[in-house]
Amino acid sequence: MSDYPFFFTWTDQRRAVPIHLTGGDGAFVDTADGGRWLDLASFSFQANLGHGHPRMRAALAKQAEELCVVMPNAIFPAKQELAQRLLELAPEGFSRVFFTLGGAEAIENALKIARLVTGRHKLISRYRSYHGASMGALSLSGDWRRPPLEPGLAGVVHALDCYCDRCPFGHKVDTCQRECARHIGDLLQLEGPRSVAAVVLETVVGANGVLIPPSEYWPMVREACDRHGTLLVADEVLSGFGRTGRCFAFEHFDVVPDMICLAKGLTGGYAPLGAVLVHDRVARHFDDNVLACGLTNYAHPLGCAAGVEALAIYADEGLFERAAALGPTLLTDLRAALPAGHAAIGPSRGIGLLAAVELDLPASGWKALAAGLDARRLFVHLYPSRGTVVFAPPLCIAEADMKAGLAGFGEALAEALRAADADRSPS
Ligand SMILES: Cc1ncc(COP(=O)(O)O)c(C=O)c1O
Repeated sequence: MSDYPFFFTWTDQRRAVPIHLTGGDGAFVDTADGGRWLDLASFSFQANLGHGHPRMRAALAKQAEELCVVMPNAIFPAKQELAQRLLELAPEGFSRVFFTLGGAEAIENALKIARLVTGRHKLISRYRSYHGASMGALSLSGDWRRPPLEPGLAGVVHALDCYCDRCPFGHKVDTCQRECARHIGDLLQLEGPRSVAAVVLETVVGANGVLIPPSEYWPMVREACDRHGTLLVADEVLSGFGRTGRCFAFEHFDVVPDMICLAKGLTGGYAPLGAVLVHDRVARHFDDNVLACGLTNYAHPLGCAAGVEALAIYADEGLFERAAALGPTLLTDLRAALPAGHAAIGPSRGIGLLAAVELDLPASGWKALAAGLDARRLFVHLYPSRGTVVFAPPLCIAEADMKAGLAGFGEALAEALRAADADRSPS
């Protein structure tokens, strides 16, 4: 039972597991009990730059000295520079940035923009997805976090997933007709040819299992959206800023979305900031129509300064390229660490420094796995309700540390499997 005067998130308070952080550097994190943990998760997928980066600290301190409190129509160098740099990273034709304080607000404002521009209200997303905890973003989300809060936003329709290892249409990726992409076209038609404002998809599904679409998926969805005058929104909150080995995950696919939602890696977690990058064909609508969106801390100076410095560090340290180079090792070593031939081990997948393995464990097995990881001081994303473990180390992680961490995960898993097998065997 935690006895703190604040809530812990996504848990009943009795089962909250507080962790007293004191600092960190690179891929390592320090705790008050003297522990040093290897972060194979990037905390909540935001610590792409690693921990305790001296340049990030200095940039925040400098901005704090210069200017901290602004109003939404304020102009200052970090705001202009960050918007400019983000538009340079985006595909040709993107002309405006809408700043927010995080990922959910980026999604929230993208869907508001889509509704304002199209005059339509329906939205399509997918079941295996998470888009944020605010009501609009949660309504789009498909995982366990949505049902407790329903009813959500009216007009949201969930599509079946692009999940090649467990295809909801019963196909195999080498013989299918990309039914999952056609399905989105069917939904656009069935919902009423001119009623869907936007299709909102994680480019590569993150926390819901690292689902990587085949190359045709995104172009087919793009084509269906174009056919129906529907806007296409890429949620790059988790997959953006090098996580998949490119700046944005959609760069792996031949597609240009209409809006791109960003947060997490945008500042590497050093300050709260999100953004929506908007294509000019959408942005122009607001030249003569009111943009009915806003927030008090729009483009907060600390967030903008952190964003500018984060982008500089990504470039100077070659972190996107590093994620691309280390990605194959992450997946190979993860697979090598999995106890061979055990029935509990399911499919594994990866792209860049983002990888997942499915595990069929009883509750006691998940508990034993968590204990084994704690004992080895390894941060990993364990999702018992989804039967999945997700790895997303900081992009600066040393190869040797990553390999050692994955070997440690393999040992912890072997112990957990032994415990689960003992539980299952008749006494
Ligand atoms: C894909 C995706 N979109 C949106 C969000 C919401 O971001 P935030 O928690 O910053 O509101 C998340 C957070 O995990 C996410 O993974």
